[in-house]
Amino acid sequence: MKNRLTQKTKNIIGEKRYKKLRSQIHMGLLAINSRFFPTLAKIGKIYQTDKVYHSFSGLSYLDIYEKYFDQFRGKKISLLEIGVKDAASLRSWKSYFKKGNIYGIDIDPSCKELEEPRIQIEIGSQDDEELLRNCFGSDKKFDIIIDDGSHVNKMTLASFNILFNQRLKNRGIYIIEDLGCSYEKLQTDYNVLAIWPGMKYNDPVKSYDNDRKDMDTFFLENIERLDHQIGNILSIHFYSMTCVITKI
Ligand SMILES: C[S@@+](CC[C@H](N)C(=O)[O-])C[C@H]1O[C@@H](n2cnc3c(N)ncnc32)[C@H](O)[C@@H]1O
Repeated sequence: MKNRLTQKTKNIIGEKRYKKLRSQIHMGLLAINSRFFPTLAKIGKIYQTDKVYHSFSGLSYLDIYEKYFDQFRGKKISLLEIGVKDAASLRSWKSYFKKGNIYGIDIDPSCKELEEPRIQIEIGSQDDEELLRNCFGSDKKFDIIIDDGSHVNKMTLASFNILFNQRLKNRGIYIIEDLGCSYEKLQTDYNVLAIWPGMKYNDPVKSYDNDRKDMDTFFLENIERLDHQIGNILSIHFYSMTCVITKI
């Protein structure tokens, strides 16, 4: 049927004009697609999330995430991000997932004011077990969880242990960002409690110096479990500074 139509069109307008028309239609479709379904990187630039500027070898976080997020586009998904700041990333997710509900956790109380339709925010620390278990309703499960909070290893792991196991759906995606920080003595060398946005709300008595061994142990134990076909991790993909973990 398609072949007959093609042949008929070619007979009427000629081979050369047919090729030109076909390429014009193709270009038009691409333009419509990018107008109505812009890439995640394009959206991130509009909302000015710094995820668009973290890049290695020409690939930003958002270019990487889009490979995983594309399957959820157009669906009524739930995405939770730890670390709201000015809501630039939450707004990017909201724009990309037109039917999605976006949830944020941040320790800075002023973040609560950034709520808007389809964006809900709860205030608290990412190592507060009660918050992690109950935020947005204990029955709520998420398709995607992103940790862009304190980047303090112990907190990153506390969040993962509860959120991945109890709050992420099967086949869900969990992202741990900015792994470069996991090697750093964040407080001693960078004074992060005073310098990084929102960090001053953390308990000054706790330690904010990272020991990379904590993350290495966590990753190695889970890789071993994966190799022995136990546990609930399906894959761990490492990229520069970020890591994408999927659930069975
Ligand atoms: C890098 S910013 C988030 C940026 C945002 N995700 C974006 O891409 O636009 C980190 C945020 O983590 C928050 N934060 C720091 N310590 C935290 C903690 N213990 N629990 C939850 N959030 C924390 C800070 O208040 C800050 O807003």
